[in-house]
Amino acid sequence: MINIKDKKYKEIVKDILRNNDFKKLYNIEHHGISRYEHLNKIAYYSYKIAKKLNMDYRSVTRGALLHDFYLDGNERSSKDKFTDTFIHPKKALDTSSKTFVLNEIEKNIIISHMFPIYPALPKYKESVLVNIVDKVIGCKEMIMEYHYKFKYNFNYLFVLGLLILNS
Ligand SMILES: [Fe+2]
Ligand SMILES: [Fe+2]
Repeated sequence: MINIKDKKYKEIVKDILRNNDFKKLYNIEHHGISRYEHLNKIAYYSYKIAKKLNMDYRSVTRGALLHDFYLDGNERSSKDKFTDTFIHPKKALDTSSKTFVLNEIEKNIIISHMFPIYPALPKYKESVLVNIVDKVIGCKEMIMEYHYKFKYNFNYLFVLGLLILNS
């Protein structure tokens, strides 16, 4: 989990991190880590870049923190998880709008973060930024997830092989 000390960032995300439904994301797996951690990572890196580029960094941070805020989790079948890849921006926008007051930029950041897989266009430069940060970090997380799974399976087969040879 990244350790964030930036006071301004903490102020922007305070109410979201305190929300009880949002805290549930801590127990939902997402790209091999928790969805809570994934969202915090995307929000913080997007915040840093948006500040440097003189964008509306408050909307960037909040939109990024909520971009995958939906509560369907580990209980889903592989088929449902696959389907969610294509429809979850809508789920995240519904959950976020019901829980927090969102401005137009934040709404667009959430609904367009999977463009072009989900057909909602990023209408603001802030939405384009979060779309890119999520893709870059999301891909890295997925590579790490498969790397660990591969390593685990390899070690498992290696030990199994040794046991068979010794028996
Ligand atoms: Fe997503
Ligand atoms: Fe994401």
